[in-house]
Amino acid sequence: ALLTMKATVIATFFGVFLICAYAAKEATKKTKKAKLYVPQIDCDVKAGKIINPEFIAKCPPGCQDVKYRVYGTDIYASFSSVCNAAIHSGIIDNAGGKILVQKVAGHSGYRGSFSNGVRSLSLPRWRESFLVSEGKPRKGVTYPSTLEYSSSKSTAVKTGNGCVNVPTGDAVRKEYQTSPVPTPATQMATTTPTPTTTTTDPSTTTPKPTTTHATTKTTTVAAAAKTRPGLHRVRDIAFRGSSTPASNRNILRPSTGIQRQEPVAAFRRAAGSPAHLAMETDSWRSGLSIFDTGFSSKEDLNPKPLESISQGNPNCKVDLSFLMDGSWSIGKRRFQLQKQFLSNVAQALGIGSAGPLMGIVQYGDDPSTEFNLKTYANSKDLRNAIEKIPQKGGLSNVGKALSFVNKNFFSDANGNRGGAPNVVVVMVDGWPTDRVEEASRLARESGINIFFVTIEAAAESEKQNVIEPNFVDKAVCRTNGFYSINVPSWFSLHKVVQPLVKRVCDTDRLVCSKTCLNSADIGFVIDGSSSVGTGNFRTVLQFVANISKEFEISDTDTRIGAVQYTYEQRLEFSFDKYSTKQDVLSAIKRISYWSGGTSTGAAISYASEQLFSKSKPNKRKIMILITDGRSYDDVRVPAMAAHRNGVIAYSVGVAWAAQDELEAIATDPDKDHSFFVDEFDNLYRFVNQLIQNICTEFNSQPRN
Ligand SMILES: *[C@@H]1O[C@H](CO)[C@@H](O)[C@H](O)[C@H]1NC(C)=O
Repeated sequence: ALLTMKATVIATFFGVFLICAYAAKEATKKTKKAKLYVPQIDCDVKAGKIINPEFIAKCPPGCQDVKYRVYGTDIYASFSSVCNAAIHSGIIDNAGGKILVQKVAGHSGYRGSFSNGVRSLSLPRWRESFLVSEGKPRKGVTYPSTLEYSSSKSTAVKTGNGCVNVPTGDAVRKEYQTSPVPTPATQMATTTPTPTTTTTDPSTTTPKPTTTHATTKTTTVAAAAKTRPGLHRVRDIAFRGSSTPASNRNILRPSTGIQRQEPVAAFRRAAGSPAHLAMETDSWRSGLSIFDTGFSSKEDLNPKPLESISQGNPNCKVDLSFLMDGSWSIGKRRFQLQKQFLSNVAQALGIGSAGPLMGIVQYGDDPSTEFNLKTYANSKDLRNAIEKIPQKGGLSNVGKALSFVNKNFFSDANGNRGGAPNVVVVMVDGWPTDRVEEASRLARESGINIFFVTIEAAAESEKQNVIEPNFVDKAVCRTNGFYSINVPSWFSLHKVVQPLVKRVCDTDRLVCSKTCLNSADIGFVIDGSSSVGTGNFRTVLQFVANISKEFEISDTDTRIGAVQYTYEQRLEFSFDKYSTKQDVLSAIKRISYWSGGTSTGAAISYASEQLFSKSKPNKRKIMILITDGRSYDDVRVPAMAAHRNGVIAYSVGVAWAAQDELEAIATDPDKDHSFFVDEFDNLYRFVNQLIQNICTEFNSQPRN
């Protein structure tokens, strides 16, 4: 492989040299007959890069190479190399020459074929196409003498005769970085060092129907790569090793410049399993996996139903979803290491119906569920199934995957148990290709504990490709380090099996799981008017304490605040004053009875300002107002303002409290938010009812 590698490198440089020499010669030739200057294009130039709708251009020799991908037959997707498409269509051969290119509309399907020594690939759809014909001007058409390129990247290399900075190796690398397609791998992973095999593409040697499937699959990556050039890590590329600081990945590939060979192997394996490919192609088209339809392969894989259910580790009752990175950037070997890791985690967890349950979602361009929480109820079956997961390929769209999990994964139909915390562990090779912050926030807010395991993070030189710096901290439950693990190398991933299992099973710390009891700022607004009386006021405080007791209280969980009012208002304590249940309960006990009039409207405004305006955005603002009489002022306007500001208001009326006011204060529907008791001694009856209503309302909120 090393020899081939070297040969290819040399060939590439030599090719570049040839192109330059050729270009220089052409340029001199052209100055002599300046009449029709035909612009020169390089082999890697894709039609889509050129803005001109119709042009004549000259291709250099040496464009017949699998790395200059071509999509389609006769009509080519503009994502194709112009010159290699011209060779495929038979207009020129590998010696190069003049061609006429005409852009035409995009198509919904491009058929790959083997023609004139070039294998073109299939592509489901592309937004623009082009036709190639003989390089003769059509009558009445004026052709451009310089071509307009759509991005500065290409034009920079093409200034002058295009040779100024090409042989530095830098430009070559740049070119590779913009196309994260496993193309060079396909070419270079050939193991025989004979020159004749350098261009052996698996598809050229076996022009059978199955290869069409394989090419479809590969091209989807190319299409996706196109939409986000340069964002995805492309580290499995020749020359790369020499520029990155000596890292652990060189340990396995001791010769600098040797690149991993997995992609081609994956390609081959895929070609050999048409069933898998049909699924893969299918899921690409519809954005859905067959697993989403409730398909479960458990029966097929495990014909022993007696063994299929285990109790599992009862000390770790969590509902887990592992987001597995299936992007092409990983390659086959690391994908295998990831499966090994997940398998070890499944083993260490002790999967079972009374313990942890684990499902897996694989993400690339799009996520799909490999198995849900119900699919496997013991570690053994789960491990067997993990072993069989095929790599999806594509980009690393983690944000998309998190949204998917939030919307689809933790549903009752998928085996979510409700009583167990929801945990998502996101595996990321390098960095995500989309943004994760918003998707994770929504997921956390619907009660999901997010952990990140990042492997081989961006090196200093790769940092500019990371679209969302600090994505881990933006995504995980808390930034205290508990929820994230960074592993320097895929080959040391196995070391974090135990630490990770320990953390996800530490249910006491799975505090990011939002429940009705741990995610509110509850503000009590207490009527301290003279009509209440000292004794009843103590009962009211007991009621407040009894409700508070039921919540999980801390500065990051539910917080309690209190206001007492008569004609005036007094802040007894704000949300941030106490951070333990004990402190809150004693503070409630210490509230002293004020005695005075009853301005409930003013009290609501005051509470909005002094309590709820300081509520955290991710907390539910709950007001519980307790009064024993009609207000001296208007309650409607202040109550409506509070509702508008997101305050969920409950009203508790005693004795002479006015029903119409209680309903005006309460959030709709009134029957769930307003309560009335004839005497203070019966207040206790509403403690449970009130908490139940708070929780029912919380649970009926749609998951994002
Ligand atoms: C509060 O709880 C205590 C203990 O359960 C109970 O005895 C009391 O009646 C309750 N009071 C109110 C007002 O809820």
